[in-house]
Amino acid sequence: MINQVEVKNVYKNFGDVKAVDGVSLEISQGQFFSLLGPSGCGKTTLLRLIAGFEMPNSGDILIDNKSMDGIAPNLRPTNMVFQNYAIFPHLNVAENVAYGLRKKRLSKDEKLEMINKSLELVGLSGLNNRSSNALSGGQKQRVALARALILKPKVLLLDEPLSALDKKLREQMQSELRHLQRVVGITFILVTHDQEEALTMSDKVAVMFDGKVEQIASPRELYERPSSKRVASFIGTMNFIDAIGSKSGEKIKVENRILGKFELPQNQVSGNHVNNKLTLGIRPELISINPRKSKSADFIEGEIEEISYLGETTYYKIICGKDIEPLNVLTQNSFGQMNYKVGEKVKLNIDKDNIVGFSG
Ligand SMILES: Nc1ncnc2c1ncn2[C@@H]1O[C@H](COP(=O)(O)OP(=O)(O)O)[C@@H](O)[C@H]1O
Ligand SMILES: [Mg+2]
Repeated sequence: MINQVEVKNVYKNFGDVKAVDGVSLEISQGQFFSLLGPSGCGKTTLLRLIAGFEMPNSGDILIDNKSMDGIAPNLRPTNMVFQNYAIFPHLNVAENVAYGLRKKRLSKDEKLEMINKSLELVGLSGLNNRSSNALSGGQKQRVALARALILKPKVLLLDEPLSALDKKLREQMQSELRHLQRVVGITFILVTHDQEEALTMSDKVAVMFDGKVEQIASPRELYERPSSKRVASFIGTMNFIDAIGSKSGEKIKVENRILGKFELPQNQVSGNHVNNKLTLGIRPELISINPRKSKSADFIEGEIEEISYLGETTYYKIICGKDIEPLNVLTQNSFGQMNYKVGEKVKLNIDKDNIVGFSG
């Protein structure tokens, strides 16, 4: 795959704040790439560095193998959609969309054709003369998208573009945005603090904390093989259990009082082995309650402490002993299945194949 954007060891400070603290990453052409992390971790700053609104203290940013050092935002093959839309209220929809064309020598007809094409892409055909004040939040976001796309950037930068929308509309726009990216075929770099949004939309995700990138991976890899406890708990829910681990050939032997002894492949255990201490990470859906096949001794006794019924799924907190945190367990619901009650004693089975380990 061809690299479209390369961020090479970039640092950006604001006074004492290390907003971007030595970031390197590569984004290939046509990729839907997300920067994911908690508020304040440097996502917007990194996006603004790529756009050219900020200059790095050191390091370099390349687009299509060309250094962007000293190149003004309007001369870069990028365009940005801002968090607050930045729609001009005194201009109508078509005027907003055409804003970036005002200095270009184009005939009225050419402009109109470009405006109409952009509006069609975002599903706003025919709204050319609508006043910006008469638009819903979702429509404003579409206008902002059309305005960015009309300039045919090679890279579209989106800073939390959906965060102001309510849940239903946000989910709809997520799938539309993903579809739009496939239609236009250009590279999208999305900033979001919402892990579900990053997982559903992206080909690749960079998870950031404190100005640094902690892991870059596909959504599935991030969820199933998080490289650190921090990534694991930021993305979805993870049960953490302390254990002892020791290297044994290609495997890691694991031992824990309630889980017993088992082995994990080395690529499921990250970090260095220090003092044999290991934290196991177990996703809630890897644990099943009262499994039929648990006649063997291979189950854990527990007591239900809390139940959250969510329609398609149910979340349980289950106490399994004094020395471990209650386990989070997720079950898929089906009609006519067993209902459990708070206080009920249950047997748990854990799919050990997909446990991950963190050490050092
Ligand atoms: N222009 C600025 N001046 C001073 N500090 C800034 C500026 N922009 C961002 N910061 C600081 O840099 C850090 C990263 O900010 P930002 O990139 O906006 O994070 P995010 O988008 O992940 O929430 C924060 O501590 C923020 O307060
Ligand atoms: Mg931000």
